[in-house]
Amino acid sequence: MQTKEHLQTYDRISREQVAEAKDLAVSLVRENLKTFTEYFPDSNSRDQFYPQSENVEWTTGFWTGEIWLAYEETGDEVLKKAGEIQVESFLDRIQRRVDVDHHDMGFLYSPSCVAAYQLTGNETAKKAALLAADNLMGRFHEKGQFFQAWGELGAKDNYRLIIDCLLNMPLLFWASEVTGDEKYRQKALAHITTAMGCIIRPDCSTYHTYFFDPETGAPVRGVTHQGNRDGSAWARGQAWGIYGSAMAYRYLKNPEYIEIFEKVTGYFLTHLPSDLIPYWDFDFDDGSDEPRDSSSAAIAACGMLEMAKYLPEEQAEYYRAMAERLMLALWQRCAVKSPEESNGLLLHGTYARDSVNNPCTNRGVDECNTWGDYYYLEGLVRLSREWRTYW
Ligand code: GLY
Repeated sequence: MQTKEHLQTYDRISREQVAEAKDLAVSLVRENLKTFTEYFPDSNSRDQFYPQSENVEWTTGFWTGEIWLAYEETGDEVLKKAGEIQVESFLDRIQRRVDVDHHDMGFLYSPSCVAAYQLTGNETAKKAALLAADNLMGRFHEKGQFFQAWGELGAKDNYRLIIDCLLNMPLLFWASEVTGDEKYRQKALAHITTAMGCIIRPDCSTYHTYFFDPETGAPVRGVTHQGNRDGSAWARGQAWGIYGSAMAYRYLKNPEYIEIFEKVTGYFLTHLPSDLIPYWDFDFDDGSDEPRDSSSAAIAACGMLEMAKYLPEEQAEYYRAMAERLMLALWQRCAVKSPEESNGLLLHGTYARDSVNNPCTNRGVDECNTWGDYYYLEGLVRLSREWRTYW
């Protein structure tokens, strides 16, 4: 646990450290192109090294996003070419409907294809991202007003949203912008309104998932999937809440989302252990043997840097400073420092941790994961200059 006052005593990452960390991360991305241009890294490393994967799961877009971030930093045509090869794979994936019967179209297509279209005007990327947005639209339930995360559409045991989905909504706002069709934006607004109405608990922690009644659409109950227990705060879920509320404000400018952002961020920060690297669930604190989830600190830092753009200076400075403290902790304790150590960027993540109260088996425990790598690099880029978001 932390107090707000004690958090202010931590050092912030310096401009020189940001430059050093970013240059190193970009050089590691270039190194990893050898293995991951025609293929993708799997969701998480094994003994710190990612095996090759086809374009499956919800996680491949993060690697392509790293390529685009590195391309932005260097202007290197080799990176651009690799990004373009991956964009073709994303078009193929959505056209052939390979592992796309779920809601994670934003995680997949924003950092890969929206990024490519923004940076290079790539029409294949635009087409792929719009198909992905249309696919996501098919998961909206009028009864309950939300996008169903996983599983058979409409099935009672899957009639739920999850907090992570807030990061899938920017794809829909983008789709409305480029097509001029408001339908995407309207459904995103409806989902965000529903999610914000049920996933924040009175103590400002968050539910990972929330069930609805398929007959009436009424909210039923909050349940965890990847957290330690239904009533605990899964660290990454809380971080998705931080970045998700910042994104909701970016697109909708509803002041309620600033309040929600402040609440969920306050909970996250005051529940950090003394080295600022979150345990995988906030049930655990200093002295626990449970693993960390470094990716949640990277996501939270990016969310704070995004929200700082819209806040009055004093508040903005508070969140920028906190993001800089988290990024320093990640640089000092979790960053990969050489290609011999790992083919990822950020050590000490946890994809899923088994608990008696959740259905998960251990996966990617104390390993790199692609989203941790991506958000770590996004955070460094955000700290080094004004950055046009892919989200
Ligand atoms: N969105 C899935 C996860 O954060 O593990």
